[in-house]
Amino acid sequence: MGVKIVETSLRDGHQSLFATRMTTEEVVNVAKELDDAGYYALEVWGGATFDSCLRFLNEDPWERLREVRKVCKKTKLQMLFRGQNILGYRHYSDDVVDMFVKKSIENGIDIIRVFDALNDIRNLQQAVKSCKKYGGHCQIALSYTTSPVHTVEYYVELAKKVEELGADSLCIKDMAGVLLPEDAKKLFKELKKNTSLPLELHSHCTAGVCEMTYKAAIEAGCDIIDTALSPLSNGTSQPSTQAFNYVFKGTKYDPKLDNDCLNAGAAKLTKIKDKYLANGLLNPKSLSVNPNILKYQVPGGMLSNLIKQLTDQNAMDKYEDVLKEIPNVRKDLGYPPLVTPLSQMVGTQAVLNVITGERYKMVPKEIKAYLLGQYGAAPAPITLDQAIVDRIRAGEEVITCRPADLLKPEFETLKEKYKDVAKSDEDVLSIALFEANAIAFIKKRDSVEQPKVEEDEVEEFNVVLGGN
Ligand code: CO
Repeated sequence: MGVKIVETSLRDGHQSLFATRMTTEEVVNVAKELDDAGYYALEVWGGATFDSCLRFLNEDPWERLREVRKVCKKTKLQMLFRGQNILGYRHYSDDVVDMFVKKSIENGIDIIRVFDALNDIRNLQQAVKSCKKYGGHCQIALSYTTSPVHTVEYYVELAKKVEELGADSLCIKDMAGVLLPEDAKKLFKELKKNTSLPLELHSHCTAGVCEMTYKAAIEAGCDIIDTALSPLSNGTSQPSTQAFNYVFKGTKYDPKLDNDCLNAGAAKLTKIKDKYLANGLLNPKSLSVNPNILKYQVPGGMLSNLIKQLTDQNAMDKYEDVLKEIPNVRKDLGYPPLVTPLSQMVGTQAVLNVITGERYKMVPKEIKAYLLGQYGAAPAPITLDQAIVDRIRAGEEVITCRPADLLKPEFETLKEKYKDVAKSDEDVLSIALFEANAIAFIKKRDSVEQPKVEEDEVEEFNVVLGGN
């Protein structure tokens, strides 16, 4: 049995390279070439695709999923799901998570990859339960990062919990692309020994080491890898699908993908890529190697957000200071992995610490919520000075329970509240996640006139979204 391949160009590929702007027409057009290629799955939905459809493309994300399903009769479709955050940026109540999983599967998803930024298993429980209930394949992804607590033993212990929870497979999700080949070898060797779950690796080429890391992981027992067809591969995206099809040809790892199908998909993606290069959404800088992410251990997307924030403040001279401050903030906060939404939170705090000249003089409300336990448990104890922690918490109660236990059911209330706007449960879910943008989209969709897509909010979008 060769290594299995998950094709990511239709989700992470364009999310990593050009702000998730492929249209449904483009996605479907490529997807139909790939159904006979022999992939294990196509990652086509979730992550930022949902937000991008509603906010920038004037498209119904649910419609995209149904259209892809129509042209992919054989291949499994996969989505990325941020645990209790679903596809949004806050915790949602269990009934919304349940309904979202139900509707994702009904509309065509086979595999749901669930992760939590903090690897707090409690934030995955509801999504796993619902995925099993509605017959989906539930994959749990562990956010990979480096820190004194994120050791091989840490991931092995989590993997055992993931198996107990009832996941069907386990993914190591290296959103920053900082996993090195030797570490991958040790990690996958131990995971293979300690769990019977199929193992997958998701990483990014940003630092220029990803192909080597994948090869080391595969030889150590990794069963599935995430790759992107050549036009949307490398740079801040995944390594190229074709590369692995050639490298492993004739070996026991041979993925046996059909080269004609890959070429047909790649030809269409080349035209799409050229369009985004020409309109400036794909910055050629995203395509080159950036070893700084290994030095600073921060995701590529976070580096570009920092540059944007500092440029806006006229403070690019503080760039190096901010990069040095990021590891300090992570340590203070118990080493959260730098993935959405923590990457934005830690980055913003580091910028504020440097720019104000006094650490934690200004604190975003999200950092306060984190210190109140509202995102879940920190991976390691908080080591920030207790007096500062107390000042930030401002006497509010710290929670130690699963954050969603404090949320009342929301779905029926929202359904009633928006009964004049929402035409389906899917519409209610879009509104639950992206209220104003979803309502604006639905109203436009259901009016006779179809206004043109606005393309002027690119910068803001890049700030909101981190690496996934
Ligand atoms: Co990714």
